[in-house]
Amino acid sequence: MKTLPLCPVCKSPLVKRNGKFGDFWGCSMFSKTHCKGSLSPYKYNALLETLNPTNNGNNKDNQENPINKPEKTIIFSKYQEEIIRVFTETTKNMIIRACAGSGKSFMLVQLAKRIPSTKKTIFIAFGKDLVKDLSPKIPEYCIFKTSHALGLSNFSRFMGSKKFVVNVNKLYDLLKVYMAENPTIAEEVKANESTIIRIVDLIKEYMLDCSMESISYISDKHTLVLNGNTSIMVNAINWLYTTSLASLNQVDFTDMLYLCATGIVPCETFDYILVDEVQDFNACQIILVEKSLKPGGRIIAVGDENQSIFAFRAADSQAMTKIESHFTCVNLPLSICYRCPQTVIDFINSEFPGISFEGKPNNTKGILESISTQQFEDIVRDGNLVLCRNNAPLVKYAYKLLSRGIKVTIKGREIGTNLINLIVKIEKKYNTANLNDFLSSLSDYQIKEGEKLEALGHTRKLETLNDQIEAIGEFAEGVYFTSEIIDKILQIFSDDNLEGVIFSTVHKAKGLENETVFILQPSLMPSKSAKTEEDRRQEQNIRYVGYTRSKHYTYLVP
Ligand SMILES: Nc1ncnc2c1ncn2[C@@H]1O[C@H](COP(=O)(O)OP(=O)(O)OP(=O)(O)O)[C@@H](O)[C@H]1O
Ligand SMILES: [Mg+2]
Repeated sequence: MKTLPLCPVCKSPLVKRNGKFGDFWGCSMFSKTHCKGSLSPYKYNALLETLNPTNNGNNKDNQENPINKPEKTIIFSKYQEEIIRVFTETTKNMIIRACAGSGKSFMLVQLAKRIPSTKKTIFIAFGKDLVKDLSPKIPEYCIFKTSHALGLSNFSRFMGSKKFVVNVNKLYDLLKVYMAENPTIAEEVKANESTIIRIVDLIKEYMLDCSMESISYISDKHTLVLNGNTSIMVNAINWLYTTSLASLNQVDFTDMLYLCATGIVPCETFDYILVDEVQDFNACQIILVEKSLKPGGRIIAVGDENQSIFAFRAADSQAMTKIESHFTCVNLPLSICYRCPQTVIDFINSEFPGISFEGKPNNTKGILESISTQQFEDIVRDGNLVLCRNNAPLVKYAYKLLSRGIKVTIKGREIGTNLINLIVKIEKKYNTANLNDFLSSLSDYQIKEGEKLEALGHTRKLETLNDQIEAIGEFAEGVYFTSEIIDKILQIFSDDNLEGVIFSTVHKAKGLENETVFILQPSLMPSKSAKTEEDRRQEQNIRYVGYTRSKHYTYLVP
């Protein structure tokens, strides 16, 4: 019989409940004692696994350092010991700049264990996967969230009993209202719909105003082109920005952070903030962290500037420096990689001479070698991680495995949503009647849009478009109706139920690790379409992130 996790507060049994943000496990004594102890499904499942180890060969290292494992089994490096010393013997804020796999996230877990339960503590992780992997290892009294989840819980508290919904299409829906109310300019606005929305989103992420200067800055930086009358576009941007802030009955991902950063929504404050992957924080996330620290509270931030890969999503390239100076942090290094085998260490040292990258003592040799597609299909196993710079190769290889009866998941539901949006857009634009119609419209769209983007010199957007269209083409293999393509996309992309072989873009695999990693079409990294110095740097960083995910075996599949 399985040992079940108990209420973290009163140790009573837990029951599954349905809350505003989905299922959670709540204390069964809630109605009698009002005990509000609860666990997220992630934490519940992870604890269940820790309490009832299955040893089924799954690669997730959930037995490596569970919260209850005696700490004497860990031998800290001299850098890690120094971090623990500064943390326990001083009250200083700390920033740890360190290479991939050097134990940045691991050290935050170690520090979390050393914080007294009387102190209100939050561990801010970059993605849901990391929350899932690390949360069973940190003390129950330490809150573990992504920055978006933190923003959302602030917003929810702010709203109190007032109803609201999380709507990722909030800006789209509001702009539709604007077009309906202004029929004379609706067509012109519609032609620029996605650009207007993107600009408003970026205005918030950069924490800029809606001035012409900000709009030009964003348009240049993100190669966003508004076609048509400038004042119509600027008015639409201003209206959308202002109305979105007044429409608090719905919230999108950007607003979860932005409303807190602007002070519209007050932030819950903490004695300790442990924050991971800060190199990819945008202006809103930096301010959210600042506002979440109690006066006299303490922050420990970790990151690696060489792993900064989200500039396209408005990440601030100076995020680490800003956090360091704002909180007057003591700067500490970590330069031993505990994750990667020696073959990867040697590869990184020869390909990235600017990065200080040292292997762990008595490191295993590991494998870093090229294999054929056939060998890939033969040796890949459940739980392995398959990475690629782009989506289309992931879809192509995922389908190869599916056709052999192997279960696969592609990480990133929103990637699938974007593909579906593109399908619907093309169906509407060409008024397609059947699959053949759709496929010929798809190639027509690719040619025409491609020519436009090429003429404007938007090579990166062109690459994304081609990637999306190729991916849709892969999904179209062997189907009879366009709706089947959509069904296939919905089935294969996921964020929560990662089963079978896990396919992921490098972006989505940030912070993760796996015994066995396959890199599809490694020549896509660095991308040839990067033109600016910043883009080229980001592409090198993506390559570095991709090659540093494996603990033993890295196979390159050309
Ligand atoms: N002192 C140690 N002894 C044994 N294993 C360690 C030690 N320090 C870290 N590790 C292990 O090294 C691996 C990499 O650690 P972690 O994921 O924390 O690195 P990271 O620096 O956060 O990586 P990334 O840059 O990819 O986010 C993990 O499996 C972790 O458990
Ligand atoms: Mg990490």
